[in-house]
Amino acid sequence: MSEQPRVLAVCGSRREGSYTRSALHYAADAAADAGAETDYLDLGDPTVDMPLYHPDHDAAETGDVAAVLERVRAADAVLLGSPVYHGSYSSAFRSFHDWCSFDEYEDTVVGLLATAGGGTYSSTLDHMRVTVRGVHGWVMPHQVGIRNASSKFTDRTEPGDGIGGDADHAFTDERLRDRTEKLGRRAAHYAAEKEPFFDAPD
Ligand SMILES: Cc1cc2nc3c(=O)[nH]c(=O)nc-3n(C[C@H](O)[C@H](O)[C@H](O)COP(=O)(O)O)c2cc1C
Repeated sequence: MSEQPRVLAVCGSRREGSYTRSALHYAADAAADAGAETDYLDLGDPTVDMPLYHPDHDAAETGDVAAVLERVRAADAVLLGSPVYHGSYSSAFRSFHDWCSFDEYEDTVVGLLATAGGGTYSSTLDHMRVTVRGVHGWVMPHQVGIRNASSKFTDRTEPGDGIGGDADHAFTDERLRDRTEKLGRRAAHYAAEKEPFFDAPD
């Protein structure tokens, strides 16, 4: 690809001061440092009208859904983050995901990140991987799971403090920070190099 790759980060937590949101900002910043143009979709943003998915409602006539789907389609890579909820992903992530289909994810590189309050995130990442495959996203093998999240970040900072770019929390765990930034760098890299993979014959 000769153009600058576009990387969209989508946060599936609606919680103020979300750790998932902070981690995704690190990944998005790393993607930008690797040459990508980045976009950030916060499903907790009250100014984004993303109603619960409804099969009888047309995306074009439902809140900001059409505009959001256009941002997903415009992305060469999507970084998806969800909190661990009952061993799976959040309802915000699921509803967003149900609005999406092949049109949004065909030929799109996907990076996954999950944040757990407790010790286990594997099932969340697995559920995200399977459902993204369902819309033909190309999910990278490298993924990020953050367990015991409150012990891996600083307390909340004031917006604009500059810690971790736009993040509310800074990583206190260097290994996790590296792993998260690698997710963003790899998304930018594969998004830029993807044509050779996607042009495979039937
Ligand atoms: C409805 C709900 C279900 C949750 N289920 C789990 C769970 O199964 N395992 C776990 O480790 N943490 C669970 N948690 C805790 C969240 O994973 C934790 O608070 C995480 O940091 C949330 O991410 P956020 O900071 O990005 O919002 C749950 C929290 C909520 C609100």
